Amino acid sequence: MNKWHNPYSPVKTEVIDSIVETPTIKTLQLKPQVPIAFEAGQFVELTIPGLGEAPFTPSSRPSVTDEMFLTIMKVGKVTEAVHLLQTGDTVGLRGPLGTGYPIDSFMDKEVLVIGGGCGFAPLRSLMYTLFERSKEFKKLLFRGGCRSAQDLLYRQELAQWAKRDDLDMKLTVDAGDTSWKGHVGVVTMLLDDIGMDCHEGIAIVCGPPLMMRFVTMKLVEIGFQDQNIYLSMERNMSCGFGKCGHCRLGTYYVCKDGPVFSYDKIKPFPDIWS
Ligand SMILES: Cc1cc2nc3c(=O)[nH]c(=O)nc-3n(C[C@H](O)[C@H](O)[C@H](O)COP(=O)(O)OP(=O)(O)OC[C@H]3O[C@@H](n4cnc5c(N)ncnc54)[C@H](O)[C@@H]3O)c2cc1C
Ligand code: FES
Repeated sequence: MNKWHNPYSPVKTEVIDSIVETPTIKTLQLKPQVPIAFEAGQFVELTIPGLGEAPFTPSSRPSVTDEMFLTIMKVGKVTEAVHLLQTGDTVGLRGPLGTGYPIDSFMDKEVLVIGGGCGFAPLRSLMYTLFERSKEFKKLLFRGGCRSAQDLLYRQELAQWAKRDDLDMKLTVDAGDTSWKGHVGVVTMLLDDIGMDCHEGIAIVCGPPLMMRFVTMKLVEIGFQDQNIYLSMERNMSCGFGKCGHCRLGTYYVCKDGPVFSYDKIKPFPDIWS
């Protein structure tokens, strides 16, 4: 954990680069004045001075603390301003906030990571950690899906992942085109005949709410136990550390008790997929 005295006070941070990923998604390369150590799955609040702040989960390597990458989809006020940022601009970062993935508890298990659309961003950070520790797991699998080949994040990097001996990876797009040679169809299709011990295995899901809902239902259907399915939940946030109540999910605060939850914990609440 960082030495971070005032949780409301952002660390001044320079924009090193702004990388176009897709027509609506950019990755910011950021250099905070004070190193920020985080665990995969934790998030930060990014402040645009004079405009506001929004939560994002780093897409970079947790072991690198003097630089951070955030992959951000343009959806509204703050994210539109983020997409206009240029090299040399200054933003603020607060964090790390929340609770990440309990990676130590995955030891000696088969671990399946499933991403959809912008959910590839937090999962890239998780995958870096899983790769660093891959000898600790029985097997590592990645299944990813997005709308089209143009919407696929980190395409060149994923091509490198596909060559790794320690990873079993498959990708799919909802609608194929001439540039796409892989699977076509929704990501749940890739879970048929997954080739792992579902009852004992770990599954990690991150993506849009509808995708998470269908993937979770499929995981339960093929034998995964609720407590072994980890979901990354999003809610509107303000303080980011359990004081304002904006991010309530049943009896939990997503900012403090999450954003990563095992399915058994949140399953009883009616509005988890909204
Ligand atoms: C823990 C956490 C991690 C996140 N990580 C990422 C990430 O890595 N990359 C990324 O692109 N986005 C991420 N998000 C979503 C991101 O925070 C929202 O897209 C952002 O807050 C929108 O701000 P805005 O001012 O641009 O949009 P606004 O002008 O506030 O709203 C535009 C639209 O987005 C919706 N919205 C606003 N805030 C959120 C929110 N927090 N969650 C879901 N919908 C929201 C609004 O209901 C509205 O429909 C994350 C959210 C959370 C809670
Ligand atoms: S954002 Fe304030 S309690 Fe969670």
